[in-house]
Amino acid sequence: MPIFKKDKKNKNTVPEPMENPRQIINNVKIGKGTKIWNFVNIYGCEIGDDSMVGCFCEIQKGVKIGDRTRVQSHTFICELVEIGSDCFIGHGVMFINDVYPPQPDPSEWKKTIIEDGASIGSNATILPVRIGKNAIIGAGAVVTKDVPAGAVVAGNPASFMRFRDNKKGE
Ligand SMILES: CC(C)(COP(=O)(O)OP(=O)(O)OC[C@H]1O[C@@H](n2cnc3c(N)ncnc32)[C@H](O)[C@@H]1OP(=O)(O)O)[C@@H](O)C(=O)NCCC(=O)NCCS
Repeated sequence: MPIFKKDKKNKNTVPEPMENPRQIINNVKIGKGTKIWNFVNIYGCEIGDDSMVGCFCEIQKGVKIGDRTRVQSHTFICELVEIGSDCFIGHGVMFINDVYPPQPDPSEWKKTIIEDGASIGSNATILPVRIGKNAIIGAGAVVTKDVPAGAVVAGNPASFMRFRDNKKGE
């Protein structure tokens, strides 16, 4: 399997011999200034500029991540997830696309959208939902429903606590 590495001059990745044997980065578009730590398995996805992916993350094909977004270690981001810019994805966050596994037919899987500025606490589980702009998801939350912009939610199943800074979204 070809291994792709970052081309420092070019925004896109190019096929070259693997430079760092502690990373598996295959066919990934990585923006300028984005830092990928060791022991990752990321393939067929796009990450914008000045973002970060921590150790022991897997990011699957088709995933899109914006600019200045931080994905902390041990997080799993599956197909059909889109994450905006200026987001924080905590340690060990698990995304889900197949609600009744195993469904081998990907047309049965569902998508998740994380809007700009959202922050997801450590060890949260995100079922297929839309998380609105600047929302905050508490550590350990199991998010089963859409989260409005600017909302703070926590718990299992996650429930509304308040609006961040006591005002709605944006
Ligand atoms: C959700 C969160 C933002 C709430 O912060 P907050 O508004 O300051 O909340 P408080 O600490 O005042 O707690 C309010 C109530 O919610 C509960 N609570 C707080 N965080 C919770 C969580 N993650 N899950 C469940 N309940 C939570 C508290 O126990 C408290 O309950 P009580 O009113 O019955 O005593 C925060 O607790 C959190 O989980 N942040 C994510 C942190 C994280 O994962 N960082 C990752 C990088 S280190």
